[in-house]
Amino acid sequence: MRAAGRAAALDAVDPLASCRDLFVPAGAGDDAVRAYLDGNSLGRPLIATAERLADLVTGAWGTGLIRSWDDGWMDLPLRLGDRLGEVCLGADPGQTVIGDSTTVMIYKLLHAAVSAARAGDPERTEIVLDAENFPTDRYVAEGVAAELGCSLVWIDPDPSTGVTADEVRTVIGSRTAVVLLSQVAYKSAWVADLPVITRIAHEAGALVLWDLCHSVGVLPIELDHHDVDLAVGCSYKFLNGGPGAPAFGYVARRHQQALTQPIRGWMGHADPFVMGPGHRPATGMRRFISGTPPILGMVGIADTVELINQVGLAAVRAKAVALGEFVIETVDAELPEVTVGSPREASRRGGHVTINHPRAREMCARLWQRDVIPDFREPDGIRLGLSPLSTSFTEVALVLDEIGTLLAN
Ligand SMILES: Cc1ncc(COP(=O)(O)O)c(C=O)c1O
Repeated sequence: MRAAGRAAALDAVDPLASCRDLFVPAGAGDDAVRAYLDGNSLGRPLIATAERLADLVTGAWGTGLIRSWDDGWMDLPLRLGDRLGEVCLGADPGQTVIGDSTTVMIYKLLHAAVSAARAGDPERTEIVLDAENFPTDRYVAEGVAAELGCSLVWIDPDPSTGVTADEVRTVIGSRTAVVLLSQVAYKSAWVADLPVITRIAHEAGALVLWDLCHSVGVLPIELDHHDVDLAVGCSYKFLNGGPGAPAFGYVARRHQQALTQPIRGWMGHADPFVMGPGHRPATGMRRFISGTPPILGMVGIADTVELINQVGLAAVRAKAVALGEFVIETVDAELPEVTVGSPREASRRGGHVTINHPRAREMCARLWQRDVIPDFREPDGIRLGLSPLSTSFTEVALVLDEIGTLLAN
């Protein structure tokens, strides 16, 4: 296990090493997880979150009861949205809201954006997207296109990298309503050129909706600075919100009043407790809320956002890069039969590294049996999720060593 020595040396100088102790231990003794490289699917819980959830149950919920809606819960989706915007998204207050699943939030914002683009110009009937995007994005876009009578314009990117600005330039035009892309590709970890692609969309008169699921909390993002129109993301990966924790949606202030989202529930009404006939959308981001906010699911998000604020997103990114470099160097040196399916250039790579081998599926299953947890992605990818706050270099070395052992047998 040659990489183990280098890993220990890297852990010894890792400025974020102590953050690992802030997480709930992943089991104990024989049942302990030996290495967890799946924080890009489900982040680990912070100890603070376990405590705050318990406090919430006995306190604001158990004792405050219904009064807690007036004592802060009602505004929490907007307050936490603002804080997330400030710390992780480069978004000024009043443009980010927490709620719904990512799938539902994509539907709401895509539907609203396409409808607004078409209202401005009825010829804008195309949604540009890529065949390598996460299934939910593609499926939702298919649904929105069918519902609104639009067509889909597909980009077919290289699966080992991702959508390029040139590919967007080739398909975009005066008929484009919205461009829907992920900033970090869920398979390859390719970082799309958000500033340039956003500019290309605007030059064509289109709006752009970015899916930030794999970038939020691990990559510095500057939504306001780059004039992004809309964005969505999930909170259960690098934000450690927990299973099924709510998504977030960002709508640039300049678009908010012109956008009407399709799930017009009472909580997005200008005055929900009037309970009168007909929906009158609230002003600002509140109009993008549909139903009762998921209060429990916001606890973990808030705790991780504060931790990121404390250590700085730049330090988080620096460690993600270092972990990625370590994976690639170790694979190159010690696993010659394995290929790297993610960009080698750090600036184009997000918070995971995918490695490919024909036995990936079988190896992943065997690794899980040995309490070593990466994840498998069709057809032959092992995704190594690198969560800078909770992943050590030693864990990475252990996973790669186990893979080497499986390949040798
Ligand atoms: C890019 C991307 N979009 C969306 C989702 C998931 O959507 P939801 O939170 O609704 O399951 C994922 C989940 O991994 C994802 O990777």
